[in-house]
Amino acid sequence: MIRQKIVAGNWKMNGSKESIVSLISGLLEMDSSSSEVVVAPSFPYLSQVDGLISASSIVLAAQNVSQEVKGAFTGEVSTSMLGDFGVKYVLLGHSERRSLYGETNELVASKVKTVLDSGLTPMLCIGETLAERESGKTLEICEQQLQAVIDLVGIASFEQLVIAYEPVWAIGTGLSASAEQAQEVHESIRSFLAKSSESVSQKVQILYGGSVKASTSSALFQMPDVDGALVGGASLDAKEFIAIVKTAG
Ligand code: PGA
Repeated sequence: MIRQKIVAGNWKMNGSKESIVSLISGLLEMDSSSSEVVVAPSFPYLSQVDGLISASSIVLAAQNVSQEVKGAFTGEVSTSMLGDFGVKYVLLGHSERRSLYGETNELVASKVKTVLDSGLTPMLCIGETLAERESGKTLEICEQQLQAVIDLVGIASFEQLVIAYEPVWAIGTGLSASAEQAQEVHESIRSFLAKSSESVSQKVQILYGGSVKASTSSALFQMPDVDGALVGGASLDAKEFIAIVKTAG
């Protein structure tokens, strides 16, 4: 099964009107790619970025969304608001949301449902901490995180979402998982999904995230079950991000 690669830049809480103009103008120099290239700015800049990328093939993502559809939820942002600004993907369950903002597997699952219902595409982030890896629980944790979503939306919905495996110990630490370590987990995630649906498990794109750089991405992208990358720090540098996209082909 040929799965298109996705290279997504998660800008996290970085950027300004000015820096975004220069970052996007750098990205617009990118040659056309067979991969889908995605950027995820903070909410206030979605409109600006939507305008700047409108004539390109770059795709817009948001970093979070409310599980509620509308109403009295001060400070929250809804899926329909994201849709108004051309957003296609929504990152959900990022480890920073889980660990710093208390997002549980159940809350993440309910956000996945809201995003699917709105017609946008969840980019569901899962992954284990260092302590969990060292105690041999990597797969158990990933499976629990996936199972909560399967329980709520069903396995068939996984054809409408993207998974990002991001080991927490590799995020922002400079310690990327090796290509073999990533492949091992990606393959296990696919086998886990195959227990519910073989065809869904073959279709779903599984990205790797955690300290991806151009120097590590090409080995990662050669792995049969690695369908792209979710890039944090390195996505803030246009040249580096373009170099990562190039390694994806
Ligand atoms: P990083 O972040 O590339 O800076 O490790 C990845 C992520 O958090 O999505």
